[in-house]
Amino acid sequence: MLEVKGLSAGYGKVEVLHAISISVPKGRLVTLIGSNGAGKTTTLRAVSGMIKPTAGSIRLGDTEIAGMPLHEVTKRGMAHSPEGRRVFATLTVADNLELGAFPRLTGARARGDVEADRQKMYELFPRLGERREQLAGTLSGGEQQMLAMARALMLQPEVLLLDEPSMGLAPKLVEDVFKTIRRLKEQKITMLLVEQFAAAALDVADYGYVLENGRLTAEGEAKALASDPKVRAAYLGAAH
Ligand SMILES: Nc1ncnc2c1ncn2[C@@H]1O[C@H](COP(=O)(O)OP(=O)(O)O)[C@@H](O)[C@H]1O
Ligand SMILES: [Mg+2]
Repeated sequence: MLEVKGLSAGYGKVEVLHAISISVPKGRLVTLIGSNGAGKTTTLRAVSGMIKPTAGSIRLGDTEIAGMPLHEVTKRGMAHSPEGRRVFATLTVADNLELGAFPRLTGARARGDVEADRQKMYELFPRLGERREQLAGTLSGGEQQMLAMARALMLQPEVLLLDEPSMGLAPKLVEDVFKTIRRLKEQKITMLLVEQFAAAALDVADYGYVLENGRLTAEGEAKALASDPKVRAAYLGAAH
């Protein structure tokens, strides 16, 4: 479904990612783990078209999308729930969700039943259902995180990119986020999950990659990776 090959990208003259290759098969959940600053967010930005890769290929289904602008990539079904809960603060929850479906409303993607999907989001995230008319900027951090995920899902994406959905949340909410990810996996949503919370990510994922300083240093079935001594020592220590 998503095939990234030899992807390099960065900011200005600084290359952050050095020829990384990632495969996300249809219906699978793949996770990219790594320390702070390893380049996880940069990877998702390059895949979604937020920044232009300097080398490599990104195929979404049969389409080469490397170098395409963000809106073109979105139109083709790539949904990006970015780091740091980027919601539209001055719009309501309901309107944020509608904006997530924008390419469906303009005919750039199959329309389907947008209203029914919004109701589904209120079922998946009951807290959003209770706050549908509330301005997004007045939601708690955890609620904004849920809204960012729900908005991305409103695209009816081919692939969902999730950047640290658990970041900054209280332990109970982290648990809720991972429960939701598990439900999305049961619904066969194709996902690339970026997480610093490596143990939880490997627990829910099918396959994983380890990113260090912009290079992939390990990959494998999530279970195998979680029992790899090197991965355990670096990412699954007592601190995690
Ligand atoms: N907008 C930006 N402009 C310049 N450098 C950036 C920007 N965002 C990230 N970087 C740099 O890219 C590197 C990787 O960052 P990032 O992809 O955010 O890592 P991670 O998500 O794994 O913590 C870091 O050295 C960071 O300072
Ligand atoms: Mg990041």
